[in-house]
Amino acid sequence: MRYRRFGRTGWEVSEIGYGMWGMAGWTGSEDQESLASLDHAVELGCNFFDTAWAYGDGHSEQLLAKLLKRHTGKRLYSATKIPPKNRRWPARPEYTLDDVYPPEYIREYTEKSLTNIGVSTIDLQQFHVWSDTWAGDDRWQRAAARLKEDGLVRAVGISINRWQPANVLRALDTGLIDAVQVVYNVLDQNPEDELFPYCREHDIAVIARVPFDEGSLTGSLTPTSTWPAADFRNIYFRPENLIPTLDRIERLRPVVPPDMSMPEMTLRHILQSPDVSTVIPGMRKLRHVEQNIGVSDGRQLSATLMDELKGHRRDRTVDYIE
Ligand SMILES: NC(=O)c1ccc[n+]([C@@H]2O[C@H](COP(=O)([O-])OP(=O)(O)OC[C@H]3O[C@@H](n4cnc5c(N)ncnc54)[C@H](OP(=O)(O)O)[C@@H]3O)[C@@H](O)[C@H]2O)c1
Repeated sequence: MRYRRFGRTGWEVSEIGYGMWGMAGWTGSEDQESLASLDHAVELGCNFFDTAWAYGDGHSEQLLAKLLKRHTGKRLYSATKIPPKNRRWPARPEYTLDDVYPPEYIREYTEKSLTNIGVSTIDLQQFHVWSDTWAGDDRWQRAAARLKEDGLVRAVGISINRWQPANVLRALDTGLIDAVQVVYNVLDQNPEDELFPYCREHDIAVIARVPFDEGSLTGSLTPTSTWPAADFRNIYFRPENLIPTLDRIERLRPVVPPDMSMPEMTLRHILQSPDVSTVIPGMRKLRHVEQNIGVSDGRQLSATLMDELKGHRRDRTVDYIE
């Protein structure tokens, strides 16, 4: 496993981190399988784990607690998120700070996450949704600063709304945010436009999330793929999204080098950006842990392939499906 500096925190985090949503939110999850996969990831050098209170109302955080207890000798970094008080994903510009992140609520949920994860300090506490309309409100700023001053968290981050990578830049101007989490993959390349240069200049860590576009970039979906009604993927991959996405995946297949799988190429493309501190694939299966961590060997995609992949970028506008 190779490690990268996590922005101004100076932490050395594994370039393949661990996304912990699916194991506590998607259908088909088995705790024993997930815990075995998490253990194996640690054995292979993974040290960065992304969870959220909202992933199973604390369940994913409690799985992380079990992992941390079993590996007390290792420095494992815990990142979690404060759910929006109105439980609406993503934040819309008309929501007020009082609707979503009143200051006392920021602290209350950090305390809940501390209990769930079983630590005295969370490494990275993130706002699970964001709207830059709140950036200038000093109430969230003071609440976030207090979390650090009082030792509840070491760093503060923002998880940026899907397809709105610049809807955070005013908050970053406050200097209070140490890390951003953003959708970045072969299809969603727009964080490169403004967000990455800003983070580079200000030494803000970048967590690349949803590397496989929730599954399409694993190459395994078909036009008839469906999930149980409440499963997020059934909402995200509704036919208006699934069918055009699959057209894109078909156009991508011939570009994948013969000695690589599509997920491998996808992760290598993300890691090629020096602005990315860590990428956090969601993984429940042991074989996915092994395949994904196996990508961390420093091998670069060719300049020709990187150029070709630029042409597979899609630019989407928010349709308020999270
Ligand atoms: N708003 C937010 O803050 C937000 C939103 C979305 C995601 N996230 C974070 O980002 C993480 C990653 O996103 P995600 O989990 O939604 O989606 P993702 O990483 O794009 O895709 C996860 C899917 O890919 C499969 N997979 C993983 N490695 C594979 C491989 N090598 N070959 C084939 N399939 C593979 C997983 O299978 P198995 O699970 O069966 O192994 C799972 O079905 C989340 O877990 C969460 O931590 C944050």
